[in-house]
Amino acid sequence: MKYTFYVFSGSGNTDKVCREIRGKLEKSGAETEYWRFRKGEKYPDAVRTDAVVIGYPVHAFNAPTPVTEFVKEIPEGKGRKAYLVATSGEPLTLNDCAFVKTGKMLEEKGWKLSGTYRYVMPYNIIFRHSEGMAARMWLAARKNIERDVKKIIEGKDGDVTEINGIKRILGNVFRIEHAAMPIIGRNFYATDKCIGCGACEKVCPQANIYLKDGKPVFGKNCVGCMGCAFTCPKDAVRTGVLNCWRVNGKYDFGHKPATDDEVCRYLGKTYLKYFQKAEDMVK
Ligand SMILES: Cc1cc2nc3c(=O)[nH]c(=O)nc-3n(C[C@H](O)[C@H](O)[C@H](O)COP(=O)(O)O)c2cc1C
Ligand code: SF4
Ligand code: SF4
Repeated sequence: MKYTFYVFSGSGNTDKVCREIRGKLEKSGAETEYWRFRKGEKYPDAVRTDAVVIGYPVHAFNAPTPVTEFVKEIPEGKGRKAYLVATSGEPLTLNDCAFVKTGKMLEEKGWKLSGTYRYVMPYNIIFRHSEGMAARMWLAARKNIERDVKKIIEGKDGDVTEINGIKRILGNVFRIEHAAMPIIGRNFYATDKCIGCGACEKVCPQANIYLKDGKPVFGKNCVGCMGCAFTCPKDAVRTGVLNCWRVNGKYDFGHKPATDDEVCRYLGKTYLKYFQKAEDMVK
């Protein structure tokens, strides 16, 4: 069995989750191919594979625009399997709206939607989760991944999230943020702290940044993934009206996981329920 991964990831969370899934599939003897989104690059056309795994972060309760554009262009599935893997900063089920459009488009193209899996990973926008929260999220994600990949390998997959009418409407309402991003992104800039290292240029999945005289220049194709602001080693990127929501610097997933008392106050009970469900499952 051969799986081809297509992964959009701004700050690396979705990439981390998909690489964990890929590792487990390979361990079971499956063959894999792995492609990370970069605007303008050509991917293999999914004809040579048995199943596709499409990974992406939830952006405003939806899939990022480059992902829906990619799915629009994907060749006919002819009954082959497709899995959608998303990461979100919150455990809210509203985030599952991010599977609606991509899932529907895949089915219309003859792919058999065989699993929609969402894992909670730390925020790369709004506020920075504590290192303990990030570590506990990663523990929960790994346990959930273990369960999900086992089902995929055994062919017992088919976990496809149902979305009711209200969630579907809300998902469509929030999608407006996507239209605003290219405009917001034009006001991104680097401060004098910039050392011209090029890390922002390298990480941008939209190829929207180039260095001119050692300083980044931001173009018109931003989708607000926050990869540049998150990755900059000098925290030099300023993100226009989203600047106060900027999150910078890698999370330490090897940190001591947050205890129940240390779970963040924002949506605390919902996070705790999500963690405990994952932790209880494998006891
Ligand atoms: C523009 C934008 C919108 C986001 N919207 C949501 C959201 O609606 N719900 C949520 O739970 N997380 C949201 N997040 C957080 C990310 O989904 C989360 O941190 C994700 O793991 C980032 O993955 P990445 O590192 O692969 O880009 C948003 C992040 C960005 C940058
Ligand atoms: S990552 Fe930061 S320091 Fe490096 S070029 Fe970009 S803005 Fe400058
Ligand atoms: S400019 Fe920054 S926020 Fe916009 S798409 Fe590129 S990396 Fe993401």
